[in-house]
Amino acid sequence: MSDEIKKGLLGIVVDETTVSQVMPDINSLTYRGYAVQDLCEKCIFEEVAYLILNGELPNKKQLKKFIKNERSERSLSKNILSDIQRMPKKAHPMDVIRTAVSLMALEDKDTRDNSPKANMKKAIRIFSKAPTALSAFFRSRKGKKIIKPKKKLTFSENFFYMCFGKVPSKEIIKAFDVSLILYAEHSFNVSTFTARTITSSLSDIHGAITGAIASLKGPLHGGANEEVMHMMKKIKKPENAFKWINKALDKKEVVMGFGHRVYKKGDSRVPTMEKYFKKVAKIKADKKFIKIYDIVKNVMIDKKSIHPNVDYPTGPTYHLMGFDTDFFTPIFVMSRITGWSAHIMEQHAANKLIRPLSKYSGADHRKVMLLNQR
Ligand code: COA
Repeated sequence: MSDEIKKGLLGIVVDETTVSQVMPDINSLTYRGYAVQDLCEKCIFEEVAYLILNGELPNKKQLKKFIKNERSERSLSKNILSDIQRMPKKAHPMDVIRTAVSLMALEDKDTRDNSPKANMKKAIRIFSKAPTALSAFFRSRKGKKIIKPKKKLTFSENFFYMCFGKVPSKEIIKAFDVSLILYAEHSFNVSTFTARTITSSLSDIHGAITGAIASLKGPLHGGANEEVMHMMKKIKKPENAFKWINKALDKKEVVMGFGHRVYKKGDSRVPTMEKYFKKVAKIKADKKFIKIYDIVKNVMIDKKSIHPNVDYPTGPTYHLMGFDTDFFTPIFVMSRITGWSAHIMEQHAANKLIRPLSKYSGADHRKVMLLNQR
């Protein structure tokens, strides 16, 4: 057995998956065989959620049933809602949603059942309830009354309604749906691998998703979409952008929303998200972020050949839609619950405990001596 260390598991293939395929050479990403760009243009988010969870696109009847099921599971218990209301206003919403999913485990009658049927039920419950938990915190920390979910609204419409009390235009909803489709799944990224690792000890789906949320929070993963917005706010106006980004590169700073462990020639999701970011910018009459976006991107490509990842366009898109910056990664959670759940079920179906080795580099073997005898 080779004891060569592969830090960050770089280049290591650890298992098989049928959920998605990332093909960096041809700049392509497919979910269950379908190109993500195609899914964005032809499907609503619920259809893609069904596809990821079940392996096939739904027919009319299956979609109707899935939508009905999702809408019927949206409500949170009084206990969880009042827990959310009592959470510190300054808490990060990623910590709130991580805790809320953990709380859901305490109430779910199927928590201990890891059968495929129970896991699918729990996946849909977590998926349906996460937006309710997030929007409750979105409003309660501002001292506003919590808005209950509405069954006649789609997943995206309902989230806007619960956050803002109204549903925006069809174009905004489509752009939001597209962002959710693009965020739904991405093979063995760090949070998905975390979820699979937790599952591999035969732990439950609530625990695996709770761990995955903690992993997604990091700025090298999902947290990057928030960092992109912080950067754009620091740049303030397009006139500052060129100087700002050059200075950052001279200081060897990591520019958030750029680079990727797998894609080295560009992230397959960016062209689609960029298209919808530009649509949203037009609707919102934004002249600032759209210009900063292009200037920073051009310098990163020209000077460093580092391309944007999907977090670069989603950051300003969510900002223009009216969401608080610290809600960007939680929105990613709402969507990625589908991908995580599919991987958790796949791991359960063909499980092998994940337990890598390490090379010891600590102190030499020594005898225990009591401190007062030294
Ligand atoms: N800004 C500035 N330099 C960057 C960079 C970025 N965003 N991403 C990579 N680089 C640099 C690295 O520092 C490295 O430089 P070096 O050769 O002088 O050491 C070089 O480009 C190659 O990096 P690479 O090995 O390709 O990166 P990685 O695979 O280890 O890291 C990320 C990938 C995602 C962790 C990294 O690109 C990053 O930190 N990006 C910012 C965070 C982000 O947007 N995350 C969301 C990912 S979807």
